[in-house]
Amino acid sequence: MDRLTNGQRERVESLLAQMTLDEKIGQMNQESPSIVGGFDVPFTELIEMMTDGRISKEEFEKIMSTAKQDYHEDEIRRGGVGSLMVQDPVKVNELQKIAVEESRLGIPLIFGLDVIHGFRSVYPIAIAEAGSFDTDLMERTARMAAKESRASGVAWHFAPMLDVARDARWGRVSEGPGEDPYLGSLFARAKVRGLQNDRSSAENYVAACLKHYIGYGAAESGRDYNTVSMAMHVFYNNYLKPFEAAVDEGAQTVMAAFNDLNGVPCTVNRFLLRDILKDSLGFPGFVVSDANAIRECVVHGIAEDDEDAGVKAALAGMDMDMGTEIYFKHLKKAVEDGKVPVGVIDEAVRRILSVKMWLGLFDHPYVSEEAMNRYATLPDEHVRLAREAALKSIVLLKNEGGLLPLSRDRKISLVGNLADSREEIIGAWAMSWREEDCVSIRQGMEEMFPGTRYFPCGGPEGDIVMDDVLRAGEYGDVIVAVLGELVSMSGEASSRADISLPGRQRELLEMLLETGKPVVLVLMNGRPLALEWENLYVPAIVEGWQLGIEMGHAVASVLSGEFNPEGRLSSSFPAVTGMCPVYYNHMNTGRPASKSKFTSRYLDAPFDALYPFGYGLSYTQYEYSDLEVADAGDRLEISVTVRNTGSREGRETVQLYMQDAAASLVRPVKELRGFRKAELAPGQAKTVHFELKKSDMGFYDNERNYHLEDGLFRIFAGGSSRDCLAAEIRLKF
Ligand code: NOJ
Repeated sequence: MDRLTNGQRERVESLLAQMTLDEKIGQMNQESPSIVGGFDVPFTELIEMMTDGRISKEEFEKIMSTAKQDYHEDEIRRGGVGSLMVQDPVKVNELQKIAVEESRLGIPLIFGLDVIHGFRSVYPIAIAEAGSFDTDLMERTARMAAKESRASGVAWHFAPMLDVARDARWGRVSEGPGEDPYLGSLFARAKVRGLQNDRSSAENYVAACLKHYIGYGAAESGRDYNTVSMAMHVFYNNYLKPFEAAVDEGAQTVMAAFNDLNGVPCTVNRFLLRDILKDSLGFPGFVVSDANAIRECVVHGIAEDDEDAGVKAALAGMDMDMGTEIYFKHLKKAVEDGKVPVGVIDEAVRRILSVKMWLGLFDHPYVSEEAMNRYATLPDEHVRLAREAALKSIVLLKNEGGLLPLSRDRKISLVGNLADSREEIIGAWAMSWREEDCVSIRQGMEEMFPGTRYFPCGGPEGDIVMDDVLRAGEYGDVIVAVLGELVSMSGEASSRADISLPGRQRELLEMLLETGKPVVLVLMNGRPLALEWENLYVPAIVEGWQLGIEMGHAVASVLSGEFNPEGRLSSSFPAVTGMCPVYYNHMNTGRPASKSKFTSRYLDAPFDALYPFGYGLSYTQYEYSDLEVADAGDRLEISVTVRNTGSREGRETVQLYMQDAAASLVRPVKELRGFRKAELAPGQAKTVHFELKKSDMGFYDNERNYHLEDGLFRIFAGGSSRDCLAAEIRLKF
């Protein structure tokens, strides 16, 4: 690993030379505290039960406070554990002390955790934050999360999640940057920089873990953990791209995905782990399995038993076993029997020790007293960043007749159980947040609009309270309905076969519309929803996602017009679920969808996304003109003029797309290749310039050869993947 000094590298080698086979295998073993007695659920499963909503946070805490937990102290003492999932700094220090002071070689543990969109300060879920199209913001939120978690001893984030995801039925679309490989790659780079690059002190950075390598987002039918089959050119040009970018940026670790890719589970996929990741991309760090995934290879039908699964995983290049103890229990024998060369073990351990060295764990293994108390109250700076991220992630989907913004003296009937919730604003996988830091929409609205009154009426589950509906209709001169999904409806193990508003919420909307009062729909959800009906009948729709601790302030600020919305969609929204997967950069066909019958379309649904990738309105309007494309040798110089034709200042995201019109393989109808922000006063126009390197205009074939093919290209620029000006150019490479 070239980020180590010579001295550090020598230290790794000298340790390796002193280690017994048991100690080496110990480094490849990741444990989480297991619950002793009472019930049979491992800690990882328990965490997952909480994050996917099977039990509440309170129930989880109750179980944890009463249950006796095994932290594997004896194993640690014997050098049998390399990593643990723990986030309590006192416990971290206690266990680290055993590793450092009581194990033979004193190798520190690395503590890892799912810190997906913030630690104590929770930011918008990734699908939302990616829609800010603001890479600087993405980097800053990662940096803040790294600092907060390191102060608890967590030096390794199981993030960023980089799965390109095109099927909104899949619950985990919430955790990643959406459907586009270019935006996903910039997100990947920003997150790795944010997590890893501030190495001014060992307390400022963590190791990133790119997941889920790879193809998980393409699970068949959007059903979690499902099989994945795809053409290799699709894989190289789309799914691999964000991982490639993040490895190039210096990411230290990778987590393999649960799924199989073209028949071989990623956990034991030598082609993916060795040939592509380690050899071709030159990834220098270590690979960890997903939870329990090595054992699942038996169920998958790719290994006969645990030992066989362990052997296959180790040979394929899987360096660390998350949670099954298969390496711990079986690898030694497999080495002794000659099934796994000791060189494979040495390689894995070298990679693991190098990351620990790079993290400074050998010199700074403990959390200081000062660090533990550093965030007793959340610093203002952290709250401000959470608010900025929330504001920039909100997407205005519809605003008929300029219903929004609302003046602050309006009488507002605030409706929907979600509006009064602090825990539903944080999104799946947030585990270290505190209720006292969270601002619900109700709180934000009451502060911003003194005339707000809250009438719960109902939510994603349960019945409609008719009395509330009547009172809401009587009171407000406008109704703000906060509807959508519970946190438990997206994230892991939360696929949905119908992604319209769950429960009776559409009926509730109908009732609210029947009151005759104007209705603003504020959505709180973890995935694109199918909103054909809502788009037809509700005059104003705001996509609020799950925005983190400052959601309430951010939503109120947008509804009042204090902040002019500028967020975009990082994933297309279908009109109805049956259109899934729907994504803008789909392949060209010989019969593109149109009104005529024998084209690639549905009889009973539109063929185009309801709200496409890159889409998002503002309280002002923009007009595009003068798209110019010039060949400048090794690059294209592209310019487009954008004018603010409305009456408010705004920040527009100007997007650049291309299409290879005729190539040796069919290419997508459009591919994002750049974007710029333009701040524009009313009436102001700016010419926005892009440079598109010709070397970035090619594509991979099925054998991973990169093609730059002469011929006709189309260049598009505009305010979304749908609304663009187009130009053509012929190129010779
Ligand atoms: C399972 C999830 O797939 C993965 O994203 C997560 O990092 C691990 N469990 C650890 O919690």
